[in-house]
Amino acid sequence: MKVTKAVIPAAGLGTRVLPATKSMPKEMLPIVDKPAIQYIVEEAVNSGITDILIITNRGKGLIEDHFDRAPELEAKLTGANKNEMFHQVVDISKLANIYFVRQKETKGLGHAVNCARSFVGNEPFAVLYGDDVIIGKDPACGQLIRAYEEFGMGVLGVKQVSEEAITKYSSLKVEKIRDNLFKCTDMIEKPSKDKIMSLYSILGRCVLTPDIFDILDNTAPGAGGEIQLTDAMCAMARTQGMIAVDYTGKRYDMGNKLGIIQAAVEVALEHSEIGKDFREYLKGMAAHL
Ligand code: UTP
Repeated sequence: MKVTKAVIPAAGLGTRVLPATKSMPKEMLPIVDKPAIQYIVEEAVNSGITDILIITNRGKGLIEDHFDRAPELEAKLTGANKNEMFHQVVDISKLANIYFVRQKETKGLGHAVNCARSFVGNEPFAVLYGDDVIIGKDPACGQLIRAYEEFGMGVLGVKQVSEEAITKYSSLKVEKIRDNLFKCTDMIEKPSKDKIMSLYSILGRCVLTPDIFDILDNTAPGAGGEIQLTDAMCAMARTQGMIAVDYTGKRYDMGNKLGIIQAAVEVALEHSEIGKDFREYLKGMAAHL
């Protein structure tokens, strides 16, 4: 079955980026001139996704406004003959069929994904975490969808991380199939050092079958008292097996301050408008470090 639906959980409170995220959704933090969530929606669209459900929360109205039309702004840009900018603004509202649902209580990523049950119905679907921006020529979500089409089971987007970092993420038990593809049969969330299964961790993307919803209904709160998507995916990996794809592309963690600055610097260096000037500025700064 073709994967045409995606879910973007964006209802978290973003406490690691306070005070910036007190009233502003972290998913709207810009990387130079585009909010993080627009990169994510574009990745989904470039992967063949046509319908996207964004899980929001109170105070996340800015996300809805960003994907809506903006008549006053559009009129002003047309009047000023700023055609390129006009199209940039209007095209955002035409990227895909975008729907919104509120997660009424912030009970974790698994709970957020479970809010997508009626949108998803009986189809496989992609999940793109709202604070993980992945930039690369071949969209990461599309790489996972190809693996789903080949193997017909749930797919995890993974990367190798340091032993230090893995204790804050998940650790997967994997067996190589070929190249960057692995079979995953077990996993653990935030393992202590003696429980690490491998240095492969789920980072930012997965493709799931609708079986996940019944599993989530029976998943008890885990780490941090939240319903963890990893716990539900662990049950799926143990019973049905899952595929792990070590995707190509650079991932930026927009959920922490260092990740936000790294994304801004790297994207600015390649930016058509400011790249050259920023490079000179950065070289000047580096000379004094
Ligand atoms: P995080 O755990 O990084 O989000 O979840 P958070 O809770 O906003 O972060 P901190 O720890 O307080 O800084 C990863 C993704 O899942 C979403 C977040 O919006 C983020 O995109 N999420 C998390 C939800 O949609 N609902 C939740 O209850 C939790």
